[in-house]
Amino acid sequence: MKTIFVVGSINTDLSISAPYLPAKGETLTGGGFITAHGGKGANQAVAAARLGGRVVMCGCVGAEPFGIQAKEALKAEGIDVRFVREIADCPTGTAVILVIDGDNRIILDKGANAFLTKEDVDLALAEAGEGDILLSQLENPIDVVGYALRLGKKKGMYTVLNPAPAKEEAEKYLEFCDLLIPNETEAEILGGRAALAKKIRELIVTVGGDGFERYAEGRVEKYPCIPVKVVDTTAAGDTFCGGLCSKLSEGESLLAAAKFAGAAASLACTKKGAQPSIPKKEDAERLLRASI
Ligand code: RIB
Repeated sequence: MKTIFVVGSINTDLSISAPYLPAKGETLTGGGFITAHGGKGANQAVAAARLGGRVVMCGCVGAEPFGIQAKEALKAEGIDVRFVREIADCPTGTAVILVIDGDNRIILDKGANAFLTKEDVDLALAEAGEGDILLSQLENPIDVVGYALRLGKKKGMYTVLNPAPAKEEAEKYLEFCDLLIPNETEAEILGGRAALAKKIRELIVTVGGDGFERYAEGRVEKYPCIPVKVVDTTAAGDTFCGGLCSKLSEGESLLAAAKFAGAAASLACTKKGAQPSIPKKEDAERLLRASI
């Protein structure tokens, strides 16, 4: 089995449900407040581990209780946290999440995630070998993510980028990606699906409740999601990315891995919060089997 190296963000999520988006000056009563471990990087690392992968995390947290707890939570999942650096006098990344009808709107303070350096990446990837998987997102400094992708390619790793939150500047790093997994909005920001499909070796676009699309050899293949009762979609995309990498690390084909990831992402929508909602491997496999 190959190892999955996640270079990414680690956050604390403060999540509350609301009936609608409040207007300027309006105080709206919501409910169901929870704090949960989150961050696109950490969520993807947890998904990859819970869904069967061997995972190394590279990221930064504040040297304060939220950061220490976030790191402990990753360790409790069996994730190697030696390359999670604690930054003094700095808050851990924090996401304020508003959930309306199951969909989320997120405001992020990057906090310690902004301090990730190329040296952090060098240290973590020093242990990576040919065929290992690099998985990253865009909640850390983009030049550091680009550096990780470039270094990963140099080492013969299989490089995967989930370009979230999307930034146009990411375009210059696409040449170092073996697989790009944007959602529809992110794909548009990066030039549109058709243009991306020509640039990237493998492109999978997640399309929310419609499942995912795979672009290969000038064709698009669409795979619907497995319907579930949606409670909160937070981290569904992260679960997809982590789950897909876990199956790739076991040697599955990209399509089989993506179908499994789709089942895991559906399950992630049935519970509140980011990391609390990420399913176990057996549950995702059971749902996938039942759907065929
Ligand atoms: O993708 C969901 C994640 O985005 C949340 O956990 C939040 O921390 C933000 O990073």
